[in-house]
Amino acid sequence: MMRRYGLCALVTMLTLVTVGCERTLVFSNWGFEEGNLNSWITEGAFNVSQATRYAPYRYYMQEGNNHVTSSIEGTGFLRSPSFIVAETGHISLLIGAASSPNDTYVSFHRSRSHEEIARITNIENADGQYDENYLRYIVDLSEYLNTLIYIKVVDESTIARINVDDFRVAMTTDQLHQSETDILVRLGLTLDPDMRKAADTYIRQNAFRIDANKRFRFHLTGETGWINDPNGFSFYHDEINLFYQHNPYATIWGPMHWGHATSPDFVHWEYQDVALAPDRPYDTVGAFSGSAIEWNGKYYLIYTGASTEGQVQCMAISDDGVRFEKYGGNPIIDSADLPADTSIADFRDPKIFTRDGWVYMIIAARNISNQYSKLLLYKTQNMTHWQYAGRVLANNASLTEVMGVMMECPDLISFEDEDVILVSPQSVTNHRNADGNIYISGNMNWATGQLENFNPSSIKEIDHGFDFYAAQTMEHPDGRLIMVAWMAGWSRRPITSEFGYAGAMTFPRSLTYQDGHLYQLPVEELMNYRRNYRGVTFKGITEQTYDESIKGNVVDIEATFAPSSGKSGLTFFDDKQGHRVVVYYEEGRLYLERFGITDGYYPSDDKNNRASMAIPLVEGKVVLRVLLDKYSIEIFAANGYGAMTATGMPSETQMYIGAFADQPTDFDISMSDII
Ligand code: FRU
Repeated sequence: MMRRYGLCALVTMLTLVTVGCERTLVFSNWGFEEGNLNSWITEGAFNVSQATRYAPYRYYMQEGNNHVTSSIEGTGFLRSPSFIVAETGHISLLIGAASSPNDTYVSFHRSRSHEEIARITNIENADGQYDENYLRYIVDLSEYLNTLIYIKVVDESTIARINVDDFRVAMTTDQLHQSETDILVRLGLTLDPDMRKAADTYIRQNAFRIDANKRFRFHLTGETGWINDPNGFSFYHDEINLFYQHNPYATIWGPMHWGHATSPDFVHWEYQDVALAPDRPYDTVGAFSGSAIEWNGKYYLIYTGASTEGQVQCMAISDDGVRFEKYGGNPIIDSADLPADTSIADFRDPKIFTRDGWVYMIIAARNISNQYSKLLLYKTQNMTHWQYAGRVLANNASLTEVMGVMMECPDLISFEDEDVILVSPQSVTNHRNADGNIYISGNMNWATGQLENFNPSSIKEIDHGFDFYAAQTMEHPDGRLIMVAWMAGWSRRPITSEFGYAGAMTFPRSLTYQDGHLYQLPVEELMNYRRNYRGVTFKGITEQTYDESIKGNVVDIEATFAPSSGKSGLTFFDDKQGHRVVVYYEEGRLYLERFGITDGYYPSDDKNNRASMAIPLVEGKVVLRVLLDKYSIEIFAANGYGAMTATGMPSETQMYIGAFADQPTDFDISMSDII
């Protein structure tokens, strides 16, 4: 049904207008990401608004969250500035709603005569409805190359509105192909009726376009497109498996697939076929985050199926670790299994683990009666029948500063005397990032499913930098507990997106727990990739000091210094021109500041570029381990006591590592390339 409508629509769209090189007038507000209608002429009820994050189906914006909507009762129009039809002569845009085709439409006009040369009206969706889902359209105006034109968005209806976003003018052949793929993806058609295979095909056809020199060297990213949370971090068939939230088709969040990579050692990753695609009625919005477990020899992926109906827990099973079959009885946990006052709209991110003969899942959930969230526990002995096993902990108004609104991606790990919950709270107030990442200690009472001895004042951040979210752990067969997280965050333009991929995983960290504190250090396997060991000692320096021998942007660094009063520290990704990351110690705290490497990606204020954490000295010294990988810096202080992660876009010339101090200070710095 959907396919039939989709195909008709596609043919109509691609043959819509076949009608005319030079430069186009490029203004920056084609996607309304300035948050206003600057440069557009508007009359009547057109407004820029923000879309909700998981609005139904394939409703996603192309870039950022701003788009334009008109009012249902009101009428009016929106007119672009005039520009010259250029490159391939095709123009692409997103349209949603517009259920009154005669009077809600987008038209294209010659600037001088105002003659209408093309018009697009929205199509019905699979159910014969017009809805808020954004569909992409392409108009072929190659016949009008070099002609001055403008675009008009029209709402002459008093019972319908039109939504538009992401106009693309002057598209190159590559951009045209991308838009064509986006048409298919939004229609749920893709390149193959099997959405999983379609994703693989797309990746194979496009991964090679990404410049290998513009990729991280030892941090996992998607092969193409967007990734967010780590999923299914686990060990199966002698290999480390890491899955991830993945939209292979674009460098924005979209229809969530599970990408998959395997590794013998956490450093060298091999991509596997896409594991899950959003191809069932219960996961049309996406196969959201989840985890994996080996159980009776088979490999189980447990994930959240997100659809317009809500969020439910699902499973997919594999014998070989590569091909996953979605379980016929999905969902395995749905609205019937919810405790009182729990919303099916926010019920996600199951982390699976075993304890005392039971298989457990901890899941993030949200109340119906207020805006706070809670973590729920379920258990089973056969994987298919799950029983509710208790409310692990709950947020409330007094905890929003640390626990935000929705606690996403929970994990539960146990040490000798304590159980520790890792969780990523959304919308944390007064936080440098929109969202946080915290750990909460206590003792699990497995009979009641509750975390006892939980003291809100003992909540700590896992990572004190800017780019760390949705952490997930796995137990290595050798007993180590390893954690990985999404090395990015929501609500900002992702770095590297112009290279064709967005998002990376942190380098995996080994976790230990002492005196109520989580220690994290890069997994030791990285040592095997160290080459060209070199070091330098700076004696009594008071000024910024460099040495030609300590340069590099894909390196593993160890540095120690005994701080005196004032600031003392190091600079990384330094071009000696002021672009750099500065890491310094002052009065018990370690600071990280980014200069000139986040423009256009993060707000440029201090809040978004300056972070700090309290650290102890080790025998009177600041002891640092620092990993640089082209676009990332991960700092581990005081033998893993504190970690700070940040990303940015330093250029290839930002290679220097320097040291500075207010008072004469000695520095020992050694480093190796990672290859
Ligand atoms: C966290 C998250 C999860 C959700 C996933 C969707 O970053 O919002 O809660 O499952 O991303 O991609």
